[in-house]
Amino acid sequence: MISFLDLKKINDSFEPDLTSAIYRVMSSGWYLLGNEVNTFEQQYGAFIGSKYCITVANGLDALRLIFRSYIEMKVMDVGDEIIVPANTFIASILAVTENHLKPVFVEPDVDTYNIDVSLIEKHITARTKGILVVHLYGRACWSEELDNLARKYDLRIIEDNAQAAGASVNIDDQGTIKMHRTGSLGNAAGHSFYPGKNLGAIGDGGAVTTDDENLACVLRSMANYGASKKYIHEYQGLNSRLDEIQAAILKVKLPRLDTDNQMRRKIARFYYDNITNPEIYLPGNRSPGSTDENSKSYIIEALDNVWHLFVIRNSNRDKLQAYLHDNGVQTLIHYPVPPHKQKAYSEFNQRVFPVTEQLHREVLSLPISPVLSDSEVEFVAEVINKYKG
Ligand SMILES: Cc1ncc(COP(=O)(O)O)c(C=O)c1O
Repeated sequence: MISFLDLKKINDSFEPDLTSAIYRVMSSGWYLLGNEVNTFEQQYGAFIGSKYCITVANGLDALRLIFRSYIEMKVMDVGDEIIVPANTFIASILAVTENHLKPVFVEPDVDTYNIDVSLIEKHITARTKGILVVHLYGRACWSEELDNLARKYDLRIIEDNAQAAGASVNIDDQGTIKMHRTGSLGNAAGHSFYPGKNLGAIGDGGAVTTDDENLACVLRSMANYGASKKYIHEYQGLNSRLDEIQAAILKVKLPRLDTDNQMRRKIARFYYDNITNPEIYLPGNRSPGSTDENSKSYIIEALDNVWHLFVIRNSNRDKLQAYLHDNGVQTLIHYPVPPHKQKAYSEFNQRVFPVTEQLHREVLSLPISPVLSDSEVEFVAEVINKYKG
């Protein structure tokens, strides 16, 4: 069976450096808020291109701490509205509702799977305070239109970069085209180092990046029991910290992130060139088996996609998944039920988002990890091409 994501193989490929990093921390006798975390925050902040990086316990905490800090700073208030994509992992929405902010769901673009920016403006009201953009499946969600909207209505853009570590977009900066990483595009960003992410720890981990000094200060205290000085508490905070071992692990893995993401692009290219089954929609293709070379190259090679997931679509997804499983290919579904249809959000269950619901019925994620061998990737394409629905 070709496994969807062989974490052991991924981590073995960093040995012996991971083991020595763990040993270094263990033998130092210092396990929290130490040099490993300090250095990793500097390195990751520099990598993303943000002035401040605050590590936290996980990606959900990163996002919820951003909103909590904005409320503390009076930039947002309980009951304010945040525009969110209807098509996302539930953590994005939990960060909003946990802070008693109101998520305003907007449908995705079926080609990019990301929020359809052209639909945002009509959802903006006097209570709208922010837009949560999710770079879903590793593809950057950014455009001039989005940036202009935020300026026009004085909205904060919060990026959910959990799935897109290392992605970048080119932005015209007064005549000079500059590369900007996702996580440095909006006002603040949440990052996840969950083991299966493109930059994964060996446990939970997360970070916030921002250029906003005030937000960075409030958030750092908020994540540390609300204290910037030991035992002196300005806020009713929480304990959300990345530990020294995870920081040491991430320091080993960060330098290879761009190379690993390039491997993912290579596999995506192979799938695009070799999956020819007309029943399968490849990401970004309006019709199955589309041969539009220009748009294909753009979708695959663009640095704005780090291919955290390679998500195909099929109208009989469950049958396709069972077939792939029976023929030796493990796949996963991201995600089977959209947030507004979850029991946890019964207040939204009656809402109808046809594009989101269609995606959740049809999507299937193929293996795309950087440690897949050429023959494994070839096998996946061959098996899919033999499928008849
Ligand atoms: C889009 C998205 N947002 C937020 C999160 C939350 O990250 P974590 O699992 O580190 O809490 C995840 C990860 O699972 C995610 O995929």
